[in-house]
Amino acid sequence: MDGAEPIRIGVLGAGAVGKLTAAALVSSGMSVRLLVRRQEQAASLRQNGLVLVNSDGKRLRFPVAVSADPVAEAVDLVMVTVKSIDTEQAARQVAAMPGTPCVLSLQNGLGNGETLAALLGPERVLLGVSTYGATAQSDYEVAARGSGELVVGGYLGCHPLADKLAAIFSKAGWNVRVSSDMQREVWKKALVNIGINPVTAIHRVPNGAILERPDLRQIAVAAVWEAGQVAQGLGVLSADEAAAGVERMLLVCRATAANRSSMLQDVEKGRRTEIGSLNGAVVRMADELSVATPVNRELVNRIRQIEAGNCDGAYCT
Ligand code: PAF
Repeated sequence: MDGAEPIRIGVLGAGAVGKLTAAALVSSGMSVRLLVRRQEQAASLRQNGLVLVNSDGKRLRFPVAVSADPVAEAVDLVMVTVKSIDTEQAARQVAAMPGTPCVLSLQNGLGNGETLAALLGPERVLLGVSTYGATAQSDYEVAARGSGELVVGGYLGCHPLADKLAAIFSKAGWNVRVSSDMQREVWKKALVNIGINPVTAIHRVPNGAILERPDLRQIAVAAVWEAGQVAQGLGVLSADEAAAGVERMLLVCRATAANRSSMLQDVEKGRRTEIGSLNGAVVRMADELSVATPVNRELVNRIRQIEAGNCDGAYCT
């Protein structure tokens, strides 16, 4: 792949993030193939195209190539947008694809890069973090729910595809930058999700409620603060960066106030959540470092109860 060649991009997973990302790529003129698991979703996307509903209610239709058999497709880069609980399966699918495509993890949570690198080799892996809000409205429709920032970079630091991708997303009007320290960026984004996602999922509220309700704000802030201590203990974030995590989480609540977080969408649909790679990962690492994380532990317990259908009435409205 030299600088002049166009990149053939596959987007693995057509949930909210996958559809939003694919729409951005198509709008910047890229050839994109959505790689989906369900035949039913593939048929719906082929029939209707990919529909993006903008925040002003305007509907934009994007023609996309769709495949329900990812391992048959030859692409240069696979953008992995599946839930972190499915990262290992995604890595196995990419390993079976022809050629040796690079992968970019555009997922929530900690540990996705490590899982992909273990199976595919670290030099093939890029990481991305996005704070663009999106809600899937059907198999083929996604609603944009507030803009944020996209950061991309190599798992090992610099990667030749990172600048190309930044240029592509920038052409689509996204606010994007390249980083050579994606571990730090992944942690910064994880701090946002660690505060917003379980709190909105337990209380069934949109992100903006964390700013409006002092009780929710207190829990979200405490969860981020604890996670920041862990990131500092690991040497990934400085004290200032860990402290800035709280402000950043509140800023994202403001920018995506109307959005229902991905974890809230998961519990509403009775799906497993990403709690294990967010607050759960924090608790596991905190135990190794002997750092106390009571708020995160409690959030993990509550989400696990909801997943198991055992939550009490106050949280299962
Ligand atoms: O997981 C999510 O929902 C998103 O990452 C974010 C940025 C919190 C917006 O809802």
